[in-house]
Amino acid sequence: MKIEHLNLTNFRNYKELSIDFHDGLTILTGENAQGKTNILEAIFLLSLAKSHRTNHDQEMITWNEDYAKVVGQITTKNSHFPLEIILNSKGKIAKYNYIDQKRLSQFIGKLNVILFSPEDMQIVKGSPSLRRKFLDTELGQTHPIYLQNLLEYHRILKQRNSYLKQAREKNSHDPVYLEILTDQLVEAGSRVINYRIEFVKNLEKIAQPLHYELSNERDLLSMVYKSSTSKVDYEKKDLIEDQLEELFKSSTQREIDQGITLYGPHRDDLIFYINDNLAQQFASQGQQRTIILSLKLAELDLVYAIDQDYPVLLLDDVLSELDDRRQFILMSKIEGKVQTILTTASVENIHIQELKNSSIIQVKKGKVL
Ligand SMILES: Nc1ncnc2c1ncn2[C@@H]1O[C@H](COP(=O)(O)OP(=O)(O)OP(=O)(O)O)[C@@H](O)[C@H]1O
Ligand SMILES: [Mg+2]
Repeated sequence: MKIEHLNLTNFRNYKELSIDFHDGLTILTGENAQGKTNILEAIFLLSLAKSHRTNHDQEMITWNEDYAKVVGQITTKNSHFPLEIILNSKGKIAKYNYIDQKRLSQFIGKLNVILFSPEDMQIVKGSPSLRRKFLDTELGQTHPIYLQNLLEYHRILKQRNSYLKQAREKNSHDPVYLEILTDQLVEAGSRVINYRIEFVKNLEKIAQPLHYELSNERDLLSMVYKSSTSKVDYEKKDLIEDQLEELFKSSTQREIDQGITLYGPHRDDLIFYINDNLAQQFASQGQQRTIILSLKLAELDLVYAIDQDYPVLLLDDVLSELDDRRQFILMSKIEGKVQTILTTASVENIHIQELKNSSIIQVKKGKVL
């Protein structure tokens, strides 16, 4: 899959931008705060209909303008189409092949991207919500049904939470109604959990050997999708729904007392181990970077296995942080297969052969040279 062309209007510090991307490697270089990451953000927006660094779409509109427009020309292994997003004060419009997509879930994933940005360094040691977001982002792109399930789960969760809160305030509740909400929550929640367990297993299978190679055959990476409570054992895969049902049955009063849903995939976590030690506790900066890099590389193969097409790889400021050996391994995995767009303040920190065949684009004050 490739993005051949990108057009921006009133997007961040770009009044107007038209840019072609190399089939292989495109390098966006320039001083800090010139607009390199903004270009990657625009591509990410075409893929997931949201930014990777803000939840407020309006922030992406150029100051003092009332709309922003992003258009990309996409080529996949058997089609060619434009994607378009318009942001304005009313919200956003997403078009696939010139046609408005009423449901964003139908738009998301038409373009697949894997982004590796400095924010991802938080995945290993940051809060569980970041790891859930990591899972949701990747699963959402490749499995539209997962995304619908997840939205459904959050819709029911919200409804159930507000009912529990109300029950606490009134000091009374309708057990039948709560049971209906609980059943719906358990059903949607189990589907989300099952998708995530499967994804983590598949990801581990591919990431483990990559990580072993990247760590110079020193570190064995393993990962586990973990329930927020020891009362539910995800190893017993066929019994997840039953276990959750039991758990909610025995927790009704506590949930009402606290006015909130206490269990479910919105509280789960993804745990990384290196040589059976908890990475969250002891992994060094370099080890964390190696974990993330192997996850991202593994995702490339995982997407390929599903779509028979590689996603576009976006590397924000990360290549120059890797030592030469890791840069080399990374490039050897993607060369000739994966369209890659990377940003760096200075090309001098990048020591790869492929530099010769890449297109190097200078970014300066919201213009490309
Ligand atoms: N809504 C907006 N309207 C106008 N300019 C904006 C808007 N949002 C951000 N900017 C400008 O965009 C610039 C930052 O762009 P970006 O994050 O792409 O920089 P960068 O080249 O990646 O820098 P670095 O090397 O530091 O990561 C800043 O100058 C900022 O003021
Ligand atoms: Mg940047």
